[in-house]
Amino acid sequence: MTKQPIGVMGAGWVGLVTAASFADLGHSVVVRDVDPARIEELESGALSIYEPGLDELIRRNRSRLRFTLDAAEVFAATGVVFVCVGTPPTYSGDADLSAVWRLVTELPAGVDDTILVMKSTVPVGTGEAVRAKLDARGLENIVYASNPEFLAEGTALTDFLNPSRIVVGSFAGAGAADVRALYDTLNAPVLETDVPTAEMIKYASNAFLATKISFINEIANVCEDTHADVTVVAEGMGLDPRIGPSFLRAGVGYGGSCFPKDVAALKQVAGNSGYHFQLLNAAIEVNELQKRRLLSKLKWHLGPLRDRTVTLLGVAFKPNTNDIRQAASLVIAARLLAEGARVRAWDPVALQAAGPVLGPEVELCEDLLGSLRGADAAVVVTEWDELSALDLDEARAVMRRPLLIDGRNLFDPDTVRASGFVYEGIGRPSADVDSVSSALAVPERLRFSARAAAQRLRGAEVAGEPNPAGA
Ligand code: UDX
Repeated sequence: MTKQPIGVMGAGWVGLVTAASFADLGHSVVVRDVDPARIEELESGALSIYEPGLDELIRRNRSRLRFTLDAAEVFAATGVVFVCVGTPPTYSGDADLSAVWRLVTELPAGVDDTILVMKSTVPVGTGEAVRAKLDARGLENIVYASNPEFLAEGTALTDFLNPSRIVVGSFAGAGAADVRALYDTLNAPVLETDVPTAEMIKYASNAFLATKISFINEIANVCEDTHADVTVVAEGMGLDPRIGPSFLRAGVGYGGSCFPKDVAALKQVAGNSGYHFQLLNAAIEVNELQKRRLLSKLKWHLGPLRDRTVTLLGVAFKPNTNDIRQAASLVIAARLLAEGARVRAWDPVALQAAGPVLGPEVELCEDLLGSLRGADAAVVVTEWDELSALDLDEARAVMRRPLLIDGRNLFDPDTVRASGFVYEGIGRPSADVDSVSSALAVPERLRFSARAAAQRLRGAEVAGEPNPAGA
């Protein structure tokens, strides 16, 4: 049976994952983007987005994929069009929907019998607003549905083909069965609902996960003062099926293109309707502080950071992606530079993307061991597999001072300490400052008291303001 041809508006990460996956399920897919360079690149077989398996999936299904700049071509060739355009945050924290409005405006007059399926994450109420604009243009026959994506970077293809759930929001059921049918071959629960509810499911899911991360990060911070180990605490909590083990990894906070944006947008959605979402405000603030806590840990051991060389191990917001959007590394690098440190950054795939954002003062290092040569401290920011495989003895030998701040609790503290390192994780029993002073050869008078630094950080520092502990 011939499969329904599918249109995809937006050849970004969501659009390409959607297009390649539907092509792999046997559909012919027409992908449209407004950026000529992006279309040219795709036509030539190149791909600047790093997503494991995506280039291979596009190559394998190339005969079923067409790339174009022309929106009319998509509507002429297909009856179901997925909207996968970007909805970045504006200065107010609201989602920028200009790409969505542009699409609605340029829908060719006379388009009929098409289902417009919103995959982009859009604020609750957007579907109703799109519906009204379509009607105002006389496009009442275009059916609108919401079908939010739940794709995580690095595992997007698996997430698409083995989804935890498929949510289809529609107006009075219109088009729902057709959208649902596209996923018939996938084994996943389907939830059919109205459009605002579908939109809210996406926001609420991401906001809940982000809050879960901020929660475990706060538990980690308390663990540091109480000599408990957050990794074991999380394991113990996660065994309760009501809590579950996922998204309980304490670290430098969440980043990426979704959580920060969606949490801010949900806060705005609530605020715009007069509701003050206190829990979300706290989750956001905890996340901002969490990135900066690493600075206190460095100062605790090294004293003032001026002229210290600090290597950031990992720049991407998480492993298996070259995405640096809202990555903790960007904040940490900026704070280190502001404190006068020399900053190096290593990452297996994200350096090219990070270079222009980090700026010329940050030395980009392709070679892992080379990035550590002569460094006063190494800071794990992204839990890349390459780091787990690092030869600690070799690393210890090339560094000037053997200080490892593990912002992802990637390493086993005992193993690292056995290699002669001073090790600090997140929410794990701390190194005893006195016993490590000789290892680091930093005079006592230069070091800050951990407790005082932590207290100042908790009590006084607010997101975006300078850290008084380092003044
Ligand atoms: C997320 C959602 O998982 C996905 O469903 C949604 O559609 C888009 O947003 P993504 O941003 O790709 O996906 O990454 P995810 O793996 O969820 O991680 C987000 C951030 O949280 C990363 O910075 C990660 O390092 C951090 N994180 C995650 C933690 O700090 N601790 C955890 O336990 C889990």
